[in-house]
Amino acid sequence: MTDDKEIFSSSAAVYNLLYQDRDTSGEAHWIGEELRRHGVPETGRILELGTGTGRHARLLADQGFAVTGVEPSSDMLEKALEHPRVTYLQGDGQTIRLDTPFDAVISLFHVVSYQTSLAAAHAFFATASAHLEAGGVFAFDVWYSPAVHALKPEERIVSREDAALQVTRHARPTENVADSLVDVHFSYEVTDKSRGVTEEFSEVHSMRHFSSTEIALLSEAHGLEITDSQEFMSGAKPSRDTWGVWFVARKV
Ligand SMILES: C[S@@+](CC[C@H](N)C(=O)[O-])C[C@H]1O[C@@H](n2cnc3c(N)ncnc32)[C@H](O)[C@@H]1O
Repeated sequence: MTDDKEIFSSSAAVYNLLYQDRDTSGEAHWIGEELRRHGVPETGRILELGTGTGRHARLLADQGFAVTGVEPSSDMLEKALEHPRVTYLQGDGQTIRLDTPFDAVISLFHVVSYQTSLAAAHAFFATASAHLEAGGVFAFDVWYSPAVHALKPEERIVSREDAALQVTRHARPTENVADSLVDVHFSYEVTDKSRGVTEEFSEVHSMRHFSSTEIALLSEAHGLEITDSQEFMSGAKPSRDTWGVWFVARKV
């Protein structure tokens, strides 16, 4: 595991708070429908690479799936909520090999875009393919190159709070066009309300964006065939306006 897999070590403590307003249950419902539409059985076995804090894993398990969530960051796993049909494993999606096949492999919220080099992306697709039998699917969302070029990454500030913490996160992106990368420089201010103490830290997340052709080539190289691509959640056709595109690749 390389150091960049530990990029969430400082921010893991505030990850769930930062995304508390996201419609995670709506997302999990949509993802479940998509998986069933692509032939994954109602109680199918799902391998989630980059499960993070298990935001979607336990909601997919509520729908009947049996989920194995793989995550390199121990800090993220510490925040993961237990569920009887979810097994969490610490591991790297580029290298992990489990003995059992799965009905689907999924990677949600741009985990594939965290695989920044071509070698890393190939290793990640090899893992997905290694855990599928013919007909099984690898489903994931990525940053989409046409939209990143057209819309351009923007500076953003997000603030959230709960009873214990107040967090502000400032994101400043810089582009490395030649390598299809956006380095997002995050700075955090986290205030522990009861102690009145504010901690500051920063992280850089390098994000790789992909074109449909690159995803098709990566898939093909690992015995997978793209059967679907659409904007995540909306179902719109991928375009210059669709930052996050959802792909489904079937094992041939
Ligand atoms: C934006 S978070 C998404 C987490 C979770 N899927 C969610 O929707 O909240 C990206 C996650 O990908 C994980 N990640 C990055 N590279 C990975 C790899 N090679 N294998 C497995 N997980 C990885 C990070 O540790 C982090 O937890």
